[in-house]
Amino acid sequence: MSEKRIPIANPSFLGNERKYVLDALESGWISSIGPYIDRFEHDFAAYHGVKHAIATHNGTIALHLALSAAGIGKGDEVIVPDLTFIATSNAVRYCNAHPLLADVDADDWNMGPEQIRQAIKPSTKAIIPVHLYGNPAKMNEIMQIAREHNLLVIEDCAEAIGAMVEGRKVGTFGHISCFSFFGNKIMTTGEGGMCITNDDELAEKMRILRDHGMNRKKKYWYDHLGFNYRMTNMQAAVGVAQLEQLDSLLASRDAIQQRYKEKLSSCKQIVFQQTHQNRSVNWLVTVRLKGLDFESRDAVMNELNRNNIDSRPVFYPIHFMPMYQDPAYCSGENKNSIAIAREGITLPTWVGLDNAKIDHVAACLINALEKITL
Ligand SMILES: Cc1ncc(COP(=O)(O)O)c(C=O)c1O
Repeated sequence: MSEKRIPIANPSFLGNERKYVLDALESGWISSIGPYIDRFEHDFAAYHGVKHAIATHNGTIALHLALSAAGIGKGDEVIVPDLTFIATSNAVRYCNAHPLLADVDADDWNMGPEQIRQAIKPSTKAIIPVHLYGNPAKMNEIMQIAREHNLLVIEDCAEAIGAMVEGRKVGTFGHISCFSFFGNKIMTTGEGGMCITNDDELAEKMRILRDHGMNRKKKYWYDHLGFNYRMTNMQAAVGVAQLEQLDSLLASRDAIQQRYKEKLSSCKQIVFQQTHQNRSVNWLVTVRLKGLDFESRDAVMNELNRNNIDSRPVFYPIHFMPMYQDPAYCSGENKNSIAIAREGITLPTWVGLDNAKIDHVAACLINALEKITL
């Protein structure tokens, strides 16, 4: 085994990325107008079978744009999972609205119908389900709750492009859905994001707000307090090329997850996320190391690090963070979020990670666990 470090993520540019970026550069369309923006939005909408796709500069602002277009603001409560990347919840705070941090299920690690029902209050206006690490949330049940209580649903699909619930792609359930194309994501544009929707009015509002709130017919006339949340034509050029290869990117990641499962199955202490007859995708292969505390989990990661293997902890529950410690953000104990965070680590997952490296990571993980828990 070579001594070279195995990174946690590594982008794969094996298609038309160079050709399209060069074309964008040579065309002179390098900012937020240009044919690749139109093409990326068109192709992304077509991939999901929805009417509108609105490209943004990253996934965090895609969430903020979606919430803003839907009119979420002061006094509104939005239910988000406690166990997610911080951006899901921060986007709600940017609107001066109130995120309520609900617990997740112990098996699929997602906020589910039960937790949402418990969290609903008269001030609740929206729900942001997150498909954590590529594992789809129970969207049919969540949409049923939303209909009963007249709630807006924004799906956070940052980690889950291509995942499906009963044959239907994530991102096509909610009123608006948001994606991220950060460098470690399943497909990337460096930084980048997208909002998709079938709602003509919300789409128009997002397009206006993305461009400083400028009137679409009258240049330099602003009807709303908007933002500059636009994607560049160069980012979109990469996005078009990545989307062309999405099926093979997903298949490569499936094979990596499968190999990890085979190699780690002998160790009963290692537990994977459960899926419920859905098509989950593999953003980052993530496992629970049952029975560990934060300290011993970190010790396992340090062992991997000593073996030149990059790993990451699962996200800490958001209510651990100093700016979320007010109990108003989190009414429950959120035991599952805490336990998964305490025991969870993320393993190297990227297209091109070969079987020899996966086997090496798996062997080092089992060794590290034995060493730490003895
Ligand atoms: C669940 C989730 N939501 C939102 C984001 C934010 O996306 P970005 O990093 O593109 O701003 C991420 C990205 O890491 C994420 O994992």
